[in-house]
Amino acid sequence: MRLFAQTLALCLAVSLSLAEPAEDLPAHHHSFHHGAVIDRCKGIEFDAVAVNEEGVPYFFKGDHLFKGFHGEAELSNETFAELDDHHHLGHVDAAFRMHSEDSPEHHDHQFFFLDTKVFSYYKHKLEPDYPKDISEMFPGIPDHLDGAVECPKPDCPSDTVIFFKGDDIYHFDIKTKKVDEKEFKGMPNCTAAFRYMEHYYCLHGHQFSKFDPITGDVHGRYPKEIRDYFMRCSHFGDKKTEEHLEREKCSRVHLDAITQEDDGDLYAFRGHHFISVSGDKFHSDTIESAFKELHSEVDAVFSYQEHLYMIKDNQVFVYKVGEPHTHLDGYPKPLKEELGIEGPVDAAFVCADKHIAHVIKGKTIYDVDLKASPRVSVNEGLLTHFKQIDAAMCGPKGLTVVIGSHFYQFESPLQMIASKAIPEKHNVAQELFGCDH
Ligand SMILES: *[C@@H]1O[C@H](CO)[C@@H](O)[C@H](O)[C@H]1NC(C)=O
Ligand SMILES: *[C@@H]1O[C@H](CO)[C@@H](O)[C@H](O)[C@H]1NC(C)=O
Repeated sequence: MRLFAQTLALCLAVSLSLAEPAEDLPAHHHSFHHGAVIDRCKGIEFDAVAVNEEGVPYFFKGDHLFKGFHGEAELSNETFAELDDHHHLGHVDAAFRMHSEDSPEHHDHQFFFLDTKVFSYYKHKLEPDYPKDISEMFPGIPDHLDGAVECPKPDCPSDTVIFFKGDDIYHFDIKTKKVDEKEFKGMPNCTAAFRYMEHYYCLHGHQFSKFDPITGDVHGRYPKEIRDYFMRCSHFGDKKTEEHLEREKCSRVHLDAITQEDDGDLYAFRGHHFISVSGDKFHSDTIESAFKELHSEVDAVFSYQEHLYMIKDNQVFVYKVGEPHTHLDGYPKPLKEELGIEGPVDAAFVCADKHIAHVIKGKTIYDVDLKASPRVSVNEGLLTHFKQIDAAMCGPKGLTVVIGSHFYQFESPLQMIASKAIPEKHNVAQELFGCDH
């Protein structure tokens, strides 16, 4: 779903930028107000961040918006038309997603702060009677904010919104409307803040710090670079190996592919990098260094008889697992010839002791008997719970399906197709890669 939405967003952004030359602007005019392309890998100081109802973070900069952790900028008013009534303002000061099950009329709404006004959106639609004055809706909270983030219980003692302006911090109790001014000594002034997977992030410049929402304490090595954890950007800057590893373990950006060997060793791929996990040993490097022919950005990988089958667009690369991995002669081969299916595909996996490759493409799961010749793909079924998945692997613990920064486990592909409910959601960074935060 996220990917699909982002593809749409991408198309939108592309068509917008195609429309740009028609704009009546002097050629030297470059500002955020007129569709100048913003590259989030260039180190942006964001104005505001808030997740939407589905947990996808929206990053605001000027009159543009980035949805999720990758993809192009779009104009904010394409999604939130009414923000444009304040068009001359050109940017959102602060944003958060309301979390308060006690006030269903606001729960899960996205709130945006512009100047003296607050806007409430649900599923991209402005709620009636908005915008309102900040002083009316949040008495005691100043105008022209820098940042805002929700802090539902039990993270905070009651459902709260934390507001940031300069070095002033306000805890606003949603129910009683009581305002507590706080001092967050260890923290820089936040230009934006957001809550993601139960953690609290203060953005300042192009860096972020994870903080305790009650005390403002920052534990661990911060600040860190936003681009390392929340953006999909290929290399920038020189990093030490352990920083690469830390980044790859803890990144919230979705994986491209994941696979598990019969002995339990795991390989996960994201952009230009991969992580391997063997027992409790983690290793990260560039794809270029270990899988030179593939270069980067793989769509799906599965393990079969001590080989890695790596699918990229309409090609299959096959590596014999070893030190180093060796690319087999005659590869890459066309995907259609090798597995009887057209690319691009989303995920592929083989379960232990079977000779069936399961290939997922959109919502459809195909089976390919790897012992047959020629190999043909047979429609096995549809994904019932997920609109699209990023990566999947089959191993001793059954089938693992990865979507965004979460994963789900099933006993088998059949159980996934037949299951009535979505199983418990797990955290990729912490539970697969042992990231400590
Ligand atoms: C959206 O914003 C852009 C730039 O700020 C402006 O040029 C455009 O007219 C706006 N679009 C709509 C539909 O209001
Ligand atoms: C933080 O905000 C205060 C105003 O509230 C300002 O005086 C101070 O210079 C800011 N600090 C930084 C590092 O920008």
